Amino acid sequence: MAKIVRKAVFPVAGLGTRFLPATKVMPKEMLTVVDKPLIQYALEEAAAAGIEEFVFVTSRAKGVLEDHFDRAPELEDTLSRRGKQDVLDQLRSWLPKAGSVVSTRQQEPLGLGHAVWCAREFIGDEPFAVLLVDDLIKSKTPCLKQMVDTHAKTGGSLVLVEDVPRAMTNRYGILDVASDDGRLVKVKGFVEKPDPAVAPSTLSIIGRYILEPQIFDYLARQQRGAGNEIQLTDAMAAMLTTGAYFGMRYEGQRFDCGDKLGFLKANLAFGLDRPDLGQSLRDFLKELKV
Ligand code: G1P
Repeated sequence: MAKIVRKAVFPVAGLGTRFLPATKVMPKEMLTVVDKPLIQYALEEAAAAGIEEFVFVTSRAKGVLEDHFDRAPELEDTLSRRGKQDVLDQLRSWLPKAGSVVSTRQQEPLGLGHAVWCAREFIGDEPFAVLLVDDLIKSKTPCLKQMVDTHAKTGGSLVLVEDVPRAMTNRYGILDVASDDGRLVKVKGFVEKPDPAVAPSTLSIIGRYILEPQIFDYLARQQRGAGNEIQLTDAMAAMLTTGAYFGMRYEGQRFDCGDKLGFLKANLAFGLDRPDLGQSLRDFLKELKV
C-alpha cells in the first residue's frame, strides 16, 4: 500500500511576465477566473484530494497569497454588521485550518526543480503533491483526487499527462513511454522541452505531480538543464533508475492560465458552467457582434 499523500507544494515564485501589466504589482496566482483567484482553485483542488498541509514557495511581493488564506477581521466585521451572514459564511468556508499553510522563499529564480527543492524541510520523508497553479483543470472529480486514488494503487511517482501537437513539445516535459494502457503510462524517460524533431513522444506533463521524497536527493545536485534552469523533469529522469514513474491521463479539461488565450477560455468555460451566470453569458455570446 502506498503511503497517503498529505502535503502539497505550490511553486508560486514566478514573475508572470506574460501577463503584464496585470501582474506588475499583483501576483499572477491572484488572477481571477470568474471570481476566484487561481491559487484558490489549486488549494481547493488539493484539499478535495485529502491534502492537509499546503506549502507555498514564494518570492518577494507575494505576501498577498498568504493574506488570501488568512482571516480578514475588518471585512468580516463589516459583513457581520450589515447582516450579510451568507457572504461571511462563504468567505470562511474555504479557509484552510490555522497553521496548515506555510510559506518559504525561493530566493532566486533558478527553475521549477529548485523551487520544489526549497520545500524539502516541510515535506520530510513522505510522498507529496506538486500543483502548478497556471494549469487549471475543470473536471467532475477534482484532478488531484483522481491522481491520489490512482497513486494509492500504483505507488511510486505519478505525473498528469496529456497529448499535445508535436509542434508544441518544446513547451513541456515529455514522456518516453515504456507501456501505455490508454489511461496509465509506464515511463522509461523524461525530456524537458525537447525539439519536436527529437521528442520521444507527444505525451506531455501537465502541472500535477505526486513525488516520492527521494526526488530531493536528485534535486540537491542542482544540475542545470533546459533554459539553464534546475528542472524538476531532469531530476525525475535521473530518479528513474531507482523509482517507478507513471503518467496518468485524466477526466476533465485543462486550461493553461499562464497564457492569455488559455486564461480567457477558462473564464468562458467556468462562467458558462455557473448557475448564476451561465445563461446570461450564453445569450450574450449569441448577440456578440464581431
Ligand atoms: C513546467 C515543467 C514542464 C511541464 C509544464 C506543465 O514548465 O517544467 O515539464 O510540462 O510546467 O505546465 P513551465 O510551464 O514552467 O515552463
